[in-house]
Amino acid sequence: MNALTHKHILLGVTGGIAAYKAPELVRRLRDAGADVRVVLTPAAAAFVTPLTLQAVSGRPVHQELLSAEAESGMGHIELARWADLILVAPATADFMARLAHGFADDLLAACCRAARAPIAIAPAMNVGMWQNAATQRNLRQLVDDGVRVFGPGSGSQACGEVGEGRMLEPLELVAACAGQFGGGALAGRRVVVSAGPTFEDLDPVRFIGNRSSGRMGYAVAQAAREAGADVTLVSGPVALPDPPGIAVQRVRSALDMRAAVLAAVADADVYIGTAAVADYRPAAPATQKIKKDRDAFAIELVRNPDILAEVAGLARRPFTVGFAAETDDVLAYARRKLDDKRLDLIAANAVGAGLGFETDDNALTLLWPGGQRELPRASKAALARELIAVIAERLDARG
Ligand code: C5P
Repeated sequence: MNALTHKHILLGVTGGIAAYKAPELVRRLRDAGADVRVVLTPAAAAFVTPLTLQAVSGRPVHQELLSAEAESGMGHIELARWADLILVAPATADFMARLAHGFADDLLAACCRAARAPIAIAPAMNVGMWQNAATQRNLRQLVDDGVRVFGPGSGSQACGEVGEGRMLEPLELVAACAGQFGGGALAGRRVVVSAGPTFEDLDPVRFIGNRSSGRMGYAVAQAAREAGADVTLVSGPVALPDPPGIAVQRVRSALDMRAAVLAAVADADVYIGTAAVADYRPAAPATQKIKKDRDAFAIELVRNPDILAEVAGLARRPFTVGFAAETDDVLAYARRKLDDKRLDLIAANAVGAGLGFETDDNALTLLWPGGQRELPRASKAALARELIAVIAERLDARG
């Protein structure tokens, strides 16, 4: 049985151009077995008619907060009680702002306030509106409040621009909804992800670090969560908030990360090492701040353990995935790493030219024994979802 069979999905449609995809989304949700009711905001009704949505959902469409019909039948409280999941798709910048600030001045906002069911939003807007500081601030607030965020994807936009802000396609949204009910591609799997840099202390105030922002790893952890996995994220020092629904363990050095990862993978099905682990650490970190009383001095460094190779070498090893960030001869080095560390899969990426570290976009080549797949340039979130889909495929193929 599908994870969405007989599930009550309250679909909120807000006023963006992507609302033209709402009827298709309703059909796809119903194909997956869900029972769908639609709440339309006044602005959304300018893009898509209630009649269309009524026809495809097989139910009357709800629009008014204050009306005799609402008070006698399905008002905001009844609709909120009815829902197993509220999905707002498309969610405009304006709706995100109102949701983040607790507004309840139209039917959809009031339903979201009254709901005990989880709320998911599928943002859809122009790339500039998406990147706007207030939108990003509202997004952080919504994530803090436990709202699930599906997407956005990137690509060409109705306004003619290209970038992040496209609503996920209806089938991707159906899969994300299924993931909320334990029906994703990694449902029932335990996944451990490492992310970010490690800091290797030289003395109490200085360290050796690297430029990893942690964004790729956090996106991978979130994509695994969206696919229904139980996720532990072991994170080096980064400036990112804890993603919702994920157990986060913050660590500092490679040795700390090794201990946390080895404990977490004991009963894991998948390990994805995205962390940029320092290869070396100071042999003897000073206990006091090093003074500048010498013209030059050397720091002795010792090799750190290779966490990924260690996980791959465990007697009961999870499906082990590594990353290979390289500046040259990317595929040859990645293929060698796949073999040397005995990995199940490696994601190779070229660093530089606006890709890789400290950027929003990336491009990956996935390599596994006997296979290869290109994931062209896209946002880290979109790539992470594709990577997770491939991992789930290979995991299933392995049986
Ligand atoms: O060998 P290299 O450092 O290029 O390999 C990168 C991969 O190995 C990444 O997946 C990284 O997380 C992992 N790694 C590790 N422990 C190290 C060094 C790298 O787990 N000490």
